[in-house]
Amino acid sequence: MGSHEGRTYVVTGAASGIGAATAAALAAAGARVIAADLAWEAAPRAGEVEPAFLDVADADAWVALADRLAAAGGGPALDGLVNAAGITRRARLQDVTADDFAQAFAVNATGPALGIRALAPLMPGGASIVNVGSAAGATAHYGIAYGASKWALRGITKSAAMELGPRGIRVNLVSPGFIETPMTASAPEAFRAANLEATPLGRPGSAEEVAAVIVHLLSPEAGFVTGTEIAVDGGLTGHGGGLPIARAMGAAHPDE
Ligand SMILES: NC(=O)c1ccc[n+]([C@@H]2O[C@H](COP(=O)([O-])OP(=O)(O)OC[C@H]3O[C@@H](n4cnc5c(N)ncnc54)[C@H](O)[C@@H]3O)[C@@H](O)[C@H]2O)c1
Repeated sequence: MGSHEGRTYVVTGAASGIGAATAAALAAAGARVIAADLAWEAAPRAGEVEPAFLDVADADAWVALADRLAAAGGGPALDGLVNAAGITRRARLQDVTADDFAQAFAVNATGPALGIRALAPLMPGGASIVNVGSAAGATAHYGIAYGASKWALRGITKSAAMELGPRGIRVNLVSPGFIETPMTASAPEAFRAANLEATPLGRPGSAEEVAAVIVHLLSPEAGFVTGTEIAVDGGLTGHGGGLPIARAMGAAHPDE
């Protein structure tokens, strides 16, 4: 996974699921991690993890966090940011409300953009930002507000990569499929079953498997990767609808 010794990262959503696994993986690789979350008390207690209260939808809170880091660091001090905080909204088209859209966009799209705006000035060339998208941001998704907010995050990722490229700061998106976390534990069983049915690997992913890709994108080994997206979804989006057709044709392998 490479060493992150001596590096400092901010990870949002760090109290649970993918954010918590990322904070723990970075700490295990020797980094100092500001573990930011509404539920900051639940952030992993490992290595140099410093829990911090943050509402990612609050622009002033991001500025306050940046001021605190700048005061403590004495100059550009931050090697990266992981925007993993997120909320789901599962209402379908006929039931969705303006509030569903406002809340999903505030946390899943505007929040990451506000975070990048506030913290990028603290980052030297070589720093790396990773946004956590979703397979829902690459496909039609039944939860329309959530899906739309993740499509928006793809645009934010690409704009930020363009804007920050001249400073040597990279920005990428990791898009998980069905991952076992508290978020998916709250979904109906039918959602889980349908996801596994549509996933060529036929199993859920773990938060650690997503964290490993995020940690790689943060590292200098990914130094020429920016403005792009990596799906960590067991093949869910890669088959583009081909999987049920292949199954109907009864051919799991070209030789059969
Ligand atoms: N689990 C999956 O299958 C899956 C799939 C695709 C995308 N994702 C995305 O991955 C990210 C992490 O999801 P997870 O499954 O680990 O979810 P989770 O619910 O386990 O964790 C999300 C964390 O974000 C925090 N959070 C929510 N709103 C916040 C706010 N306003 N400010 C600060 N923190 C806030 C929560 O307190 C929680 O600790 C999310 O962006 C989610 O949309 C998850």
